[in-house]
Amino acid sequence: MYTPEQQRAFYDLSKELLEKETHPSREAAEAAMRDLRDVILYHEWRYYVLNDPVVSDYEYDRLFKKLESLEAQFPELIAPDSPTQRVSADLTEDFPSAEHLTPMLSLANSYNAEDLFDFDEQVKKLTLTPAEDDVEYVVEPKFDGGTIALVYENDLLHRAATRGNGIMGEEMTANARVIRSIPLKAAFSKFGFQKVELRGEVLIRKDIFTQVNQKREAEGLPLFANPRNAATGGLRMKDPKETAQRGLEAFVYQLAFAADAEGADQLDRLATHDESIALLGNLGFKVPVEERKVCRGIQEVVDFCNRWQARREDYPYEIDGMVVKVNRRDLQERCGYTSHHPRWAIAYKFQAKQATSRLVNVEYQVGKVGSITPVAKLEPVHLAGVTISSVSLHNEDFIRAKDLRIGDTVLVERAGDVIPYIVKAMAELRTGEERTIGFPRFCPVNDTGNPVELVREEGEAAWRCPVCVCGAQDLQRLIWHVSKDAMDIEGLGKSIVERFFELGWLRSLADVYRLPYDQIEQLEGFGAKSVANLQASIEKAKQNPIHRLLHSLSIHHLGQKISKLLAAEIGHVLDLKNWTLEDYTHIKDVGPVVAENVMAYFQQPGNIRLLEEMESLGVNLRQTDDDRPRAASADAPLAGKSILFTGTLQTMGRKEAQEKAEAAGARNVSAVSSKLDILVAGEAAGSKLKKARELGTVQVLTEEEFLNLIG
Ligand code: IVH
Repeated sequence: MYTPEQQRAFYDLSKELLEKETHPSREAAEAAMRDLRDVILYHEWRYYVLNDPVVSDYEYDRLFKKLESLEAQFPELIAPDSPTQRVSADLTEDFPSAEHLTPMLSLANSYNAEDLFDFDEQVKKLTLTPAEDDVEYVVEPKFDGGTIALVYENDLLHRAATRGNGIMGEEMTANARVIRSIPLKAAFSKFGFQKVELRGEVLIRKDIFTQVNQKREAEGLPLFANPRNAATGGLRMKDPKETAQRGLEAFVYQLAFAADAEGADQLDRLATHDESIALLGNLGFKVPVEERKVCRGIQEVVDFCNRWQARREDYPYEIDGMVVKVNRRDLQERCGYTSHHPRWAIAYKFQAKQATSRLVNVEYQVGKVGSITPVAKLEPVHLAGVTISSVSLHNEDFIRAKDLRIGDTVLVERAGDVIPYIVKAMAELRTGEERTIGFPRFCPVNDTGNPVELVREEGEAAWRCPVCVCGAQDLQRLIWHVSKDAMDIEGLGKSIVERFFELGWLRSLADVYRLPYDQIEQLEGFGAKSVANLQASIEKAKQNPIHRLLHSLSIHHLGQKISKLLAAEIGHVLDLKNWTLEDYTHIKDVGPVVAENVMAYFQQPGNIRLLEEMESLGVNLRQTDDDRPRAASADAPLAGKSILFTGTLQTMGRKEAQEKAEAAGARNVSAVSSKLDILVAGEAAGSKLKKARELGTVQVLTEEEFLNLIG
């Protein structure tokens, strides 16, 4: 239908048109209208036929509105094939077509409270409702699946069809019949209805969607990008048995047609939309209940929409907004219709979670332990309330797995508060000009002219720069050292650290504790007060417990938890100079990788000098009360005691023994010292037992005695 070149051109043209503001001349307007018609038709094909849009709904709507407003300005230029002149979408040739009993219109969209207030104002005008009176609205979810129209005749499901172009849909009765929430029989005749048409949405629950994709992955099949694609794809299976396996459901949200045996319209017998939905619910259809509300006045509508925007992620089905409908039918009729949508309803769209943009470049950042992170630079794109122009690509494997290339159009997603990420590249929009992303072999941040080869250790995803010669890692370590999770120095944020770094005041971590306060006071943006505050928070940080200090040193894999475990074991940070690998790994939860990293750190003379320097500048290196684990309740059998297991235990493993000891209020330590209270000696205990005996202050227990002691 469209060649890749055309697709590419339409994509680019869309983004261009979205940026253009006005069209001063009639000629310019005419050209813009032609372009808008073309790109809108293209996006409708992507959305309705392929189920794979390349722009967000928001962008599509803006294109549509631009065309509408130009057409309002130059009505003589309206083309008969303009997308505004018919209900959108094409049909595929896979299913027989079926004509809807009444046209299936779209909905106008709104994006914020102001749009809803405008809608309310217009409804009041059209219905001649005084401005100070409240109109009653029904608000329900805008289900994000595939639209379906169901015709019942003489109480039996007669025909099911997709929306198609709104006039003609594709008939897929056989597939609809296997969806269990679509009744094959419903007692419409009780109400005198001989023929009815209902509108609804075919959906797949989010958790079932996940399962479907897991199964497909196991079978090597391509994955569905989202639940909507899984639902619409499931509905369009050639074989209804396959539809049946997809776990589809259908919500019904509109009674669109009802006639008696003589063909006379019966819709008026239901005074409100809410009544008609309640009736359908009673007849066995799946309808929104708790998620549907009759609201008095537009403020209640706004509140309900906001509440659901916040609950969106928790709802078991994908919804992309709420639909607001005038409740009274007579008022609906007074509002009337455009060729595109009813004037009595509006969709309130939640902020888009996905958008497309172009990957223009990849830059690299180095982290505090030397890991190189590739970062995609994107053409700025608006997504869920923020403008995004860079997205982390994590590591080389991520780039390979997604086959990302420079120049690609990429789909970016941002759900809730989650940081944005690249879902995929749109391979079909490639021109052939895209360049593969070669991961650098030498540190890309280093600008000194002395290349440093990157290393990738076994089991690690990241390439690392092993010896920083350019200072970039020093800066990252400084930023980390003072941050909230580490030394927590208030008033020394990232940008200030960068500024001081550039001024040469900060190079090593020790420099933090000898800042030239008198010179800082002369800097723009600083005054006596802010400098005094900064000094106070640095003085405070000097007294931090040593677990914070350990955590602040940027030792690879040394997180807060292990920092605390280590701090609990040592009187002074420099005690670690003498620790062996065993001393570390004896501590429960300390693995060999982090143990080796910490050990390597404390074997570097430069690091020892740094710590000594910090100590001489007043930074605390001694264990504080905060570093000692909380004493268990005083009546626990081993409350407050330190304990060490050595030798082979008979009835339990060492970890289990340590857990038992901990549960009994003891603190596990890993070295024999004068601070040790109890040593449990198993079989073949060696040097530790000997040392404990020599000290004479340590209580030595057998395994059995230990078990008796803790009961
Ligand atoms: S009412 C005449 N209610 O949104 C009004 N539509 O552009 C017709 N949709 O694809 C629509 N949830 O399938 C209505 N609660 C809801 C809806 C809903 C989802 C879909 C509908 C159509 C689109 C309207």
